Amino acid sequence: MISPKMVKAVNGQINTELYSAYLYLSMAAYFHEKNLPGFANWLTVQFEEEQGHAKKFYKELIERGARVTLKAIDAPPVEWPSPLAAFEAVLEHEQKVAGLINNLVSLAKEEKDYASEIFLQWFVSEQVEEEAAATEIVARLKLIKDNPQGLFMIDRILGERKAD
Ligand code: FEO
Repeated sequence: MISPKMVKAVNGQINTELYSAYLYLSMAAYFHEKNLPGFANWLTVQFEEEQGHAKKFYKELIERGARVTLKAIDAPPVEWPSPLAAFEAVLEHEQKVAGLINNLVSLAKEEKDYASEIFLQWFVSEQVEEEAAATEIVARLKLIKDNPQGLFMIDRILGERKAD
């Protein structure tokens, strides 16, 4: 039996994951406008991944016999001062999400909800990967500063990302 506290927290996480998807789609549009299709591709794949995360939480609640209650999704920003600023925002957002996942794990422990604890392990590992990926892109962007050639090189690399 999943506790009402846990159901509320997981419903909140569905909203966070859908906001993440929305944020990355907004960033993809920003990069399309800047004629950097590789960055846009990376973020579009990320948009799809975030929807997948929301679906995993949704499915978990259904399987546990709980009610999914969807709330309004906040509007994401539409503009960033630079590609670096956008990816710093990605990193900051993923750090925040990692904190929220950790809070869910703590709550599962408190509630002695071992099923949720096991279910959440996948997300703990996923957050490590997501933070590492964002950190790497931020580091590359810092390295090239505003060099257009460097930017196009990173764009080519990020254009190779495919959906899992
Ligand atoms: Fe669903 Fe990027 O965390």
